[in-house]
This record gives sequence, structure tokens and C-alpha cells, in this order.
Amino acid sequence: MSTNRRTFIGLGATAGAAAALGTVPLTARAGPTCTNPAPGTAPIPWVTPGYQKVINRISAFNPAYDWTRLKNAYAAMKALPNSDPRSMEAQQNMHAWYCASCPGSGTDIHQHWTFFGWHRAFLYFHERILGSLVNDMTLRLPYWDWDNSARRVLPPQYYTGSLNDATRDLANGQSVERMVNGWEYDLNLVRGLIPQAFNLFGGTATAGGSIENGAHGFVHVSTGGDMGYLDTAAGDPIFFCHHSNVDRCWYSWEKYDSHTDPGSPFPGLTFSFFDEAKKWRSITVAQMIPITKLAYAYDTVIAPPLRVFKYIPLLLDEKLRIKPPEPPERKNLENVQEANVELTGLQVTGSGTFEVRVQSGGKGHHLGTLFVTPHSRNAVEAHETAREANVTFAIPPDTARLLTQPGSTVVIQRVGSAEIKPRLLQTAGATTQARISGLRLSVR
Ligand code: C2O
Repeated sequence: MSTNRRTFIGLGATAGAAAALGTVPLTARAGPTCTNPAPGTAPIPWVTPGYQKVINRISAFNPAYDWTRLKNAYAAMKALPNSDPRSMEAQQNMHAWYCASCPGSGTDIHQHWTFFGWHRAFLYFHERILGSLVNDMTLRLPYWDWDNSARRVLPPQYYTGSLNDATRDLANGQSVERMVNGWEYDLNLVRGLIPQAFNLFGGTATAGGSIENGAHGFVHVSTGGDMGYLDTAAGDPIFFCHHSNVDRCWYSWEKYDSHTDPGSPFPGLTFSFFDEAKKWRSITVAQMIPITKLAYAYDTVIAPPLRVFKYIPLLLDEKLRIKPPEPPERKNLENVQEANVELTGLQVTGSGTFEVRVQSGGKGHHLGTLFVTPHSRNAVEAHETAREANVTFAIPPDTARLLTQPGSTVVIQRVGSAEIKPRLLQTAGATTQARISGLRLSVR
């Protein structure tokens, strides 16, 4: 997989036009309700039904998808009073609360390994509520397979009827792969992430992973409007179609090369939701692996690229410079076709777009872009404490070779702000200032 950034230069012009169209109308939703959804009582543990038919979620671009049923379900959900935990407003609030976007919350299931599991369960209960509202528990959400280069517009049905959200920046027919805050994310990268170890792909107890901070965050901010902020995102029905594909990324990872999800304490992580009968339920990660326990699967998986043949660790000194690898390792870089740079324990402050680049001989070379979805459009970002991410970027072979040159330095810059926050780096012998715990190249 090679990344050709130059192919995206042409998109810059359309992005400018879109930005002009992308002002938020005054009719935009005021914001999340921002109350603690938990009732005073302890949740009732979810019990996996004994027999259930597994029904596939299919692509929103598959002509077989039943849009009438989905639109009727969302129309019914939107018609419920806000006080009903099944209502669209309550679903949005549920997400806002667990994003720590609300005063008093303090729980953020983002930017940690809770990201995949919490959203898998959120979609499951959301799907059951939708099904119950149209008396059809065979209803399944569609997925927006933005990993497919032919499907990079927002599924057009989501601009109609109860699926529409008038606040979006992304216009009907416009590619999601556009410039956002000066950078776009190459969605072709997604295939390259499937072979990763879980800590890189899905994060750890303290760090978010590559899918969350790459394609996931990018699609949020590129769609814009309610979707551009975590506290309003789940008020837009496309949220659930987008997250269905995020979940399909995890599903594809689980299916690949006998990957297994992390051991304890991961399977015991427990989340709470309202079910279709308005009962407050708890569900564990172990209850959602494999997903057939939740009576659904995906009709397709994301095909990963060629296997990695070599991992080359890179060491950084206290001045953030990369120590050149030993000659045998450099030799491995000579015939590289595809390369990824993997960064673990990278710390960023606040949210938005962050560019990572390698600085060499007075010139900066782009490595990749990190998207941390902002919490709220209403307030000053409340989360200025550093958050940790593990990310991978596909880079051209010549950039990989540059990374191994004497004197190369890795720099992280927040885009759209004059403020440059290099948060760097140390591996061996790291002490208090460590900001990246590991850096390596994987080459194919
Ligand atoms: Cu909970 Cu896509 O965010």
C-alpha cells in the first residue's frame, strides 16, 4: 500500500467551496441534554438470548438495504419525548455523557480501549430500540464502508427524511476525503491497520488506537455539523452508520490471522445502556465477542494488505532525534515497497487535527495526520490534559528512508493554531519527559 499525497491536491479546491457552504444553520440542535442517564438503581445484567438468528449488517450502498423500514424507525425514535430513554435526544445524551462532554460526567470511553466495546454495545441497544419501534427485530443498521474507494460520499439516503441532519458540512455527493483543517486523511490506510497488534489498532487502558484517531475521527470532522463534536454526534443518524463501519473494522481485525482480543481486564469491562424496554442494563465486553452473540455479523470484511516482512525499531534521543538504525536494518529499507511508521504512547493535548512529520535538513516531511474529535462546539475544550494515542501511518518508502537519516526529528503540530506543541519523545532510558514510548517502521 503506498500513499500518494499528491493525488489529493485537487481536492483542496472543492474543500474551500464546501467550507463556504458549511456554516451551521441557526436551526441546529442546541446541544446535548447533558444529564447523567443512569437511573438511581443498579443496572440489570444483560443476558444473551439463548437462541437468536444471526442477521448481517450490510453496506448502505447495497441496493438490497431496506430504507423504508429504517426511516420509519428513526421517525418513530425522533417522535418520542426527550424524557424517553429510547428517544433520539436521549441517545445523543447517552453518548455525550460517556464522552465526558457534560459537567459532572468525568467518564470518557474515547481515547482508551473502551472505544470499540462501548460503541459496539451502544449500536446493539440502539438497533434493538429501532427494531422494536417498527415491530421488527430483524432490523439491522447499515454500514458506511468508507474503506472502499468507491464509497467515500455519505450514503445519499442519509440526506432524506428522518435520516437527514441539516447541520452537516459535507454536501450530498461530496467526497468525505477532503481537506479538513488543512489536512486530509487517506482512507486507503484502513486496510493497512488490520494486521496490527491490538494496542496499536484499538488502544490500551490508557491510549486510543489507530482507527479511533485516524479514519474514525476524520470522518466525524469531515462530515461536520453535529457529527463534528462528540456531544452532538449521536444526534445525527449517520453516526450509527459510521460507527457500524468502525465496528466492522474491529470485526475484520478479529477475523484476521487468529487475532484475539486482549485478556483480563479487557473482557470484564462493563457498560450500561437502556434497552428497547427502557430497562437499564449492563453488558460486558465478553458478552459481545464474537459479535454473533449479539445476533449480528457483517457480510464482508476489510481485506488487509501484504504481510509485513520486517519491523525496524527506531530509537529517539532526548532531543527527539532519531538514532539511525544499524547498517543491516538500513539495508532492509533499500527494497521496501510499502512502509508504515508506528507510534506508541504519543501524547496530545486538547482535540482537533495534529500533523506528525519528520524534520530533516531544515525541511519537514509529512508522516500523517491525527484527528481527535472535539468534545463540544459550545464550550472551551474541557479536556486540556494530555491524552495518549497509538497510531500508524502509511508512508512512502523514501520517507521511511528519511526517518533513518542522522539528525531526523519527529515533530507533532496542532493544525489550525499558531501554537506548536511538540510532545516528544524518548524510548530507551526515558524519564519524566517521555511523550512517545515507541517508534518503529514496519516494511513490506
Ligand atoms: Cu463516541 Cu465516533 O464517537
